[in-house]
Amino acid sequence: MAKLKVGILTSGGDCPGLNATIRGAAKGCYNLFGEDKVEIIGIHNGFYGLIHNDCEKMSPIDFAGILTRGGTILKTKRTPYKMMQVVEEDNVDKVSEMKKTYKAQKLDCLLTLGGNGTHKTANLLSEEGLNVIGLPKTIDNDIWGTDVTFGFHTAVDIATDVIDRIHTTADSHSRVMVIEIMGNKAGWLTLYSGIAGGADIVLIPEIPYDINKVADAVKKRAEEGKSFSIIAVAEGAMDKEEAEMKKKIRMKARAEQGYNTATLRITKEIETLTGFETRAVVPGHMLRGGSPSAYDRVLATKFGARAAELIKQKKFGYTVAKVDGKITENKLTDVAMKTKFVLPDDELVITGKNIGISFGD
Ligand code: F6P
Repeated sequence: MAKLKVGILTSGGDCPGLNATIRGAAKGCYNLFGEDKVEIIGIHNGFYGLIHNDCEKMSPIDFAGILTRGGTILKTKRTPYKMMQVVEEDNVDKVSEMKKTYKAQKLDCLLTLGGNGTHKTANLLSEEGLNVIGLPKTIDNDIWGTDVTFGFHTAVDIATDVIDRIHTTADSHSRVMVIEIMGNKAGWLTLYSGIAGGADIVLIPEIPYDINKVADAVKKRAEEGKSFSIIAVAEGAMDKEEAEMKKKIRMKARAEQGYNTATLRITKEIETLTGFETRAVVPGHMLRGGSPSAYDRVLATKFGARAAELIKQKKFGYTVAKVDGKITENKLTDVAMKTKFVLPDDELVITGKNIGISFGD
């Protein structure tokens, strides 16, 4: 009998836990079906590899020793969803090529590990008739329908360590330190690491700030005898005026001022408004590097193993999720076009406010 053929790809920005999830899914499949009855096909560089039939037959040994490894053994690439159905200069019909590769590789199903963009394309392929199962990855934790994504808690740990380290130097120099944390649309990573790292001010895209209120919070701390302040700023944070603008207009206005994100502008404004020496720190992609935390290794293993069970049940068109502490799955169609934002009345925002953290609102 022909072997069951399972394709796996990782798409979008990487994060710790991708390899642990790949391993969980592969080991789950080998256990459920038998090593001699299933073949795993690794697809390189995400959907780009599926478009260009860049695939590799994998064997059980390929999945050994990767639990703790950061990044992705399959490599990844950003292939924006909005361009998936657009034929560009290279004349390649991407959707049709992906379907061709699926057929040429004789796949029975495809596991797609990725964030919101990946889930949109996964849903598109599912609607095109392919057997697709998603696995929710991102340090942003913004995939709808799951309490948590793998990679998030490792990034929270790293960002918290950054804030901890900045604390001591902020204290020594009596400075205001503005730390930019990744997260363009959603502020989960800044919120969690800001609370865990004891930031004094937390600015996230979902709660537009007023720079005067931020400056007031810094001045109030100084009046209370605190010689330094820590401001955790999400990459996508914006002030109240910017929040009224369309994204394109906001980005154009920032580019004219020489900024991509609000971080450097906040740093200058705070120095001017408070008179305190202020510095900016951008850890950037460090937040996505290195080995997954124990929490993420466990979550990734559970997610991967669940994907294998879904294959066994022939339950396609779903993405794995964790809801109220239990591993479950959501329909791709229900998840694909949504984003899980921080709500201004989220329990953690309220907790922060209750202990005196300013959100600049
Ligand atoms: O989606 C994850 C993420 O890390 C975002 O927080 C960040 O805005 C973006 O990726 C950075 O993307 P890139 O790696 O393409 O610079």
